[in-house]
Amino acid sequence: MATDAPSTLRVQLVEQPRLQKLKEMFLSKFGTAPEFYVRAPGRVNLIGEHIDYCGYAVLPMAIEQDILIAVKPVKSQVVQLANTDSSYLDFSTNVNNVQINKTKPQWHNYFLCGLKGIQEHFGLNNPTGMNCLLDGTIPPSSGLSSSSALVCCAGLVTLKANGKTLSKVELAEICTKSERYIGTEGGGMDQSISFLAEEGTLLAKSKGLDWKDMSRLHDVQSGLGVSLADMLTVVEAVLHPEPYSAEEISKCLGISLEELRSQGLSQNTQDVSTFKLYQRAKHVYSEAARVLEFKKICNEAPADAIQLLGELMNQSHISCREMYECSCPELDRLVDICLQFGATGSRLTGAGWGGCTVSMVPTDKLNTFMKNVRKAYYQTNIQRLALENNSLFATKPGSGALVFVEA
Ligand code: GLA
Repeated sequence: MATDAPSTLRVQLVEQPRLQKLKEMFLSKFGTAPEFYVRAPGRVNLIGEHIDYCGYAVLPMAIEQDILIAVKPVKSQVVQLANTDSSYLDFSTNVNNVQINKTKPQWHNYFLCGLKGIQEHFGLNNPTGMNCLLDGTIPPSSGLSSSSALVCCAGLVTLKANGKTLSKVELAEICTKSERYIGTEGGGMDQSISFLAEEGTLLAKSKGLDWKDMSRLHDVQSGLGVSLADMLTVVEAVLHPEPYSAEEISKCLGISLEELRSQGLSQNTQDVSTFKLYQRAKHVYSEAARVLEFKKICNEAPADAIQLLGELMNQSHISCREMYECSCPELDRLVDICLQFGATGSRLTGAGWGGCTVSMVPTDKLNTFMKNVRKAYYQTNIQRLALENNSLFATKPGSGALVFVEA
């Protein structure tokens, strides 16, 4: 993993039409030119869904779609935010009084998360004010992490405006934590996290480990010192496919229901009555094994690599659908259509329960693939038709966050 700071590139604006356009809009909005620009990409997860918070490696890829912010530090202690998309309203606040609204988060709240994360990390007593104009190309609410990209971009903007430096790893850690200022996001993600952590502790107890020290399924595997394939056998032997009740779990762990609620369940899962421990654990261990296999194939590049990678993506989708239950009929339909029209592999990506799919498509089939998917998925349904233009696109690996200054 890179330990260096994000790069700063000196660019000629005449060669960068998007930056040039942003500069002109900035000038007409704020009356001065921006001093620098920061870009942070969205991402798509190629494989490894819902296992990062269980302690396992995943394979995300930065995409070309991004958040770009033009910035001018100012003497006043005010942050003024504007967006090139006029449906996102202007916002301003004093830098010493950053309030993040968790109940009804608007776009500027994600910016404030990044701002606050950096302010707190350095204990900035006198942070600089700034004028910022944002231009985003990541489709919102699509599972491509537009909100995380905005938090990261704002973190780097604040860092640079205050003349500080951090490594990419430190920035990523701070922005991961600071996104929590926004509170729980919809869609069931937090429930899943707490749910899986509880699964691990179960398994641990049955294998004679100190389950109170184990919060992630990876901890159980490390504690037992066995392979992912062995963990799948352990799951088969120890857990039953029928859902567990909270009473049964507390009995297995030898604790009261009250102790289970206070020590093992998050706020969101207090009222959940059944827990599919077997299915969730099977998804996590098999998905973690698929990520390792995916990496091995990429490294060794056998002749049938594309077929093998596609098959792993397809298995991942089936596991997300059957075992983790984070798919939905629309995602399943889209995956089927993508496979039907030439994708070598296709799967839901990101949190799921909506969002989007990622497909691997040979370059020579791309045009017909796009045409046919558009016809079969979007043009058969009036609601999807409205989404068509922004929703179907080809992308290739993009770079990580960067700072641009005019040469
Ligand atoms: C969301 C989270 C990620 C990851 C995915 C599911 O995007 O932000 O950390 O857990 O869901 O793989």
